[in-house]
Amino acid sequence: MLEKFDNYQLLSKIATGGMAEIYLAKHVNSPINSMPIAIKKVLKKYSNNPTLLKMFLAEARIICNISHENIVKIYDFGKYEEQYFIAMEYVFGQNLGAILEKLGEKKQKLPLNLIIEIISAVLCGLDHAHNAQDRNGTFLNIVHLDMNPNNILISYEGKIKVVDFGIANANYTRKLRNDSGIQGTYAYLSPEQCSGTAVDRRSDIFSVGIILYEMLTGQTLYKQLDSDMAIMNAIMNDEIEPIDELMPDIDPKLAEIVMKALEKDPNDRYATAMDMREDLLRIYNSLEFDPNGEMLPALVKKLFPSHFIKMTKIIEQAQTEYLMDELFNNIGELEDIDIKSKKRVEEEKKKKENEEKKRQQRKSIISKTSFAAGIAGGIFIIGMILKFLFIDPDVKVDMVTVFSEPGGAQIFVNGEDTGKKTPASLQLELNKQYIIEFRKDDMIGGLEFVPTSDNRYIRMVLKKR
Ligand SMILES: Nc1ncnc2c1ncn2[C@@H]1O[C@H](COP(=O)(O)OP(=O)(O)OP(=O)(O)O)[C@@H](O)[C@H]1O
Ligand SMILES: [Mg+2]
Repeated sequence: MLEKFDNYQLLSKIATGGMAEIYLAKHVNSPINSMPIAIKKVLKKYSNNPTLLKMFLAEARIICNISHENIVKIYDFGKYEEQYFIAMEYVFGQNLGAILEKLGEKKQKLPLNLIIEIISAVLCGLDHAHNAQDRNGTFLNIVHLDMNPNNILISYEGKIKVVDFGIANANYTRKLRNDSGIQGTYAYLSPEQCSGTAVDRRSDIFSVGIILYEMLTGQTLYKQLDSDMAIMNAIMNDEIEPIDELMPDIDPKLAEIVMKALEKDPNDRYATAMDMREDLLRIYNSLEFDPNGEMLPALVKKLFPSHFIKMTKIIEQAQTEYLMDELFNNIGELEDIDIKSKKRVEEEKKKKENEEKKRQQRKSIISKTSFAAGIAGGIFIIGMILKFLFIDPDVKVDMVTVFSEPGGAQIFVNGEDTGKKTPASLQLELNKQYIIEFRKDDMIGGLEFVPTSDNRYIRMVLKKR
């Protein structure tokens, strides 16, 4: 295991990208199903660049509120020990760039139905972000600006997600300042990005057009050019070879879609990602379907078997460690209760023995009935203590882990303040109904909850009163 970073335990380094290092991590206080997480740490050399950081944080703040199945979810962002970071959903899989490279080595291409499946999912995510509005219904005008195959992640389960909205603007600025140091990172920019004129959502459509062209032809469009200047020049001025000249067998409708996305003038392109997606889906409908969506996950696993096995082991180990931690915590508390209750029982026993001795010494006449009542009373007291301590053998208790969003909410069980704040563990009887309530500032939440051996987690999103 690596070091702890803020509220996260880093587990393994995934990659070093243009501006950041990516780690697989787990939250130290969250439930097992909230992991794993990806932590993107901005490289130290960029952590002192105020312009980039301002953009990074401003965009992270906006993107944090976007939730869509084709966009990598950002959970948290901030600064820890002078290093800026983003905590986001970990996509257990590969980026599209790596997949295409691997296929290229094998002189293979992705099957057409998978190309369309991937690009339509990407367009769906982009369209959602392009249309995002704030609470007052004002468009946020989000544009990704850094759409390239490395920022499309495909999981081993076949999920397709766009990443890096949070730093797109900062990344793009870094690129335009010729600060990337990475050859070929300009190869997916739009003509308007290269000329520095106004950009809008149609810029992302051009970038997706390049990705689609490259997936279909198996050839790069601009990446092979030998300088960033040459790439930008070509994007702005060179005619793109019509795809049907490279691929005479291509469905003419598909060729039309690709070339429309690649128009140099944004007015001639698709106006929205959804328009392009709809046209693509018309072709998809006429293709052979993969009804269970099994082809994509099978292909990615087949291309990267050792990565799949290695990361599965790391994730499983982290989950086991998490469970062990939880288990030991629980055992610790139960032992505590055990020791306390044993002590009380022993004290009761001693007290009774002393009383008995005194009674013997005084040789007083004690009726058999009152002696029995005393014993019964003692047993009743012990019973009450045991019940209070939850060690009645008939009553099964278990630890229930309670989270809220936001965290730090006071927890009330059946109307009584537990004195605990989320995240916390509560000891509750199994199969008994509880009313659990949360309060934090002007936010509240509540639910009826019946703990069972399979149901030991509560996650509550608080709402304004
Ligand atoms: N949330 C994530 N889950 C899983 N892997 C990720 C995640 N985010 C990034 N990665 C992996 O880490 C790689 C590096 O990411 P990073 O964004 O820093 O660089 P890049 O995408 O290669 O280039 P760029 O700086 O242009 O975005 C990605 O290409 C991807 O393979
Ligand atoms: Mg990236």
